[in-house]
Amino acid sequence: MSDKLESLKAEILKKVREYQNTREAESKGFDRKNPKVPVSGKVFDEEDVATLIDSSLDFWLTAGKFTDMFESELAKLFGLRYALMTNSGSSANLIALSALTSKFLGDSKLNDGDEVITAAASFPTTVNPIFQCGLAPVFLDVELDTYNIDTSKIEETITNKTKAIMIAHTLGNPFDVKKITKICQDYNLFLIEDCCDALGSKFNGKMVGTFGDVSTMSFYPAHHITTGEGGAVFTDNPMIKRAAESIRDWGRDCWCKTGCDGTCGKRFDWKLGNLPHGYDHKYIYANVGYNLKATDMQAAIGCSQLKKLSNFIKIRKDNFEFYLKFFRKYNNFFILPKIYDGADMSPFGYLINIHSDAPFKRQELVRYLESKGIATRMLFGGNLTKQPAYMDKKYRVIGGLENTDSLMNNAFWIGVYPGINNEMREYVVEIFADFLENLDSN
Ligand SMILES: Cc1ncc(COP(=O)(O)O)c(C=O)c1O
Repeated sequence: MSDKLESLKAEILKKVREYQNTREAESKGFDRKNPKVPVSGKVFDEEDVATLIDSSLDFWLTAGKFTDMFESELAKLFGLRYALMTNSGSSANLIALSALTSKFLGDSKLNDGDEVITAAASFPTTVNPIFQCGLAPVFLDVELDTYNIDTSKIEETITNKTKAIMIAHTLGNPFDVKKITKICQDYNLFLIEDCCDALGSKFNGKMVGTFGDVSTMSFYPAHHITTGEGGAVFTDNPMIKRAAESIRDWGRDCWCKTGCDGTCGKRFDWKLGNLPHGYDHKYIYANVGYNLKATDMQAAIGCSQLKKLSNFIKIRKDNFEFYLKFFRKYNNFFILPKIYDGADMSPFGYLINIHSDAPFKRQELVRYLESKGIATRMLFGGNLTKQPAYMDKKYRVIGGLENTDSLMNNAFWIGVYPGINNEMREYVVEIFADFLENLDSN
């Protein structure tokens, strides 16, 4: 880059930082007269905006040097060999499961109609890839206090068609990793860990996302770090990585990076499928794929956000503990969250699960909170089998979904994200106390 361009860039980035710092300084803090406590949101600073603008000046637009950097930092963070950036967590889930159906995996691949065990209380795109890949979901119930799959029923569910377990660490709370990895080993099942809500959660000191054959992450603004839209697939297995990359990148057999040619050294010397010998490897498709790549600008924000991750996690944990301490006083009304021995949660939200015999209904409490500016969310899709999308789909349910229904009817969550400061959380507990101490007059 010429000196002239270097100096113009420095000037632009200086102004960008100034712009962001001014915007931050001008933004009004929490206002008790017009209170707003969101459930989630992006937390960013001058560094994030400057990195975004820096990458946009390159005008590379597709995956490039920032993507390489982000993928390598993500892989390092997890201590895994591979991280592949995608355009969303939903895409990451689709790629992760599709990769296990790829011919690249030989005899161990998943085939049409194979069963995948999952939880009925899920985010839809944890489960949708099972349908999209021509596999068959088997829904199990969840626990009322961890919101994760009830492992006691898994073994009775397994048949010779069962080939995988695909579940999320709900709201960042690690599922029973010890039991589930043991079942997967004993029955030779693939494990796909959806860690979209759990960046930084650990089990026995190891990051969740490192226990499965393949795992996924989301960087949508609600999540622990953001790239706007964005996600990632993680694996330690070279064949799964190659399949995932191919499926993400149109299904191609070629593994050249964007803008490169002939990485394999024999671009015009392949004989694959029924194609003529020497057909350009760039246009040979080994998998039925998609284009689910992200842009370098998204990756650039990811690189900058990663530097803040440990602080973000610390604040999330602190906010969670603050709420837990408050709700312990009201355990006659609420089922308190449980965390497995060995689990260390990097929370996505604080779930409030109202006892079914409490003297108030969720709707009354949620309406009251929302009227006071405190945002709430349901536990994703509730009981997915009751959603219109799945009415005409084929699936199995084993053992009833009572707890899933109970969470669908009685639970909701509030935010713990790093944008929630002390003033806001004090306000939140004050409003809860108001409601709970004045039940007769509500
Ligand atoms: C558990 C879980 N999986 C997958 C996703 C999808 O991620 P994205 O919104 O990036 O597609 C979400 C979204 O919040 C989620 O909560």
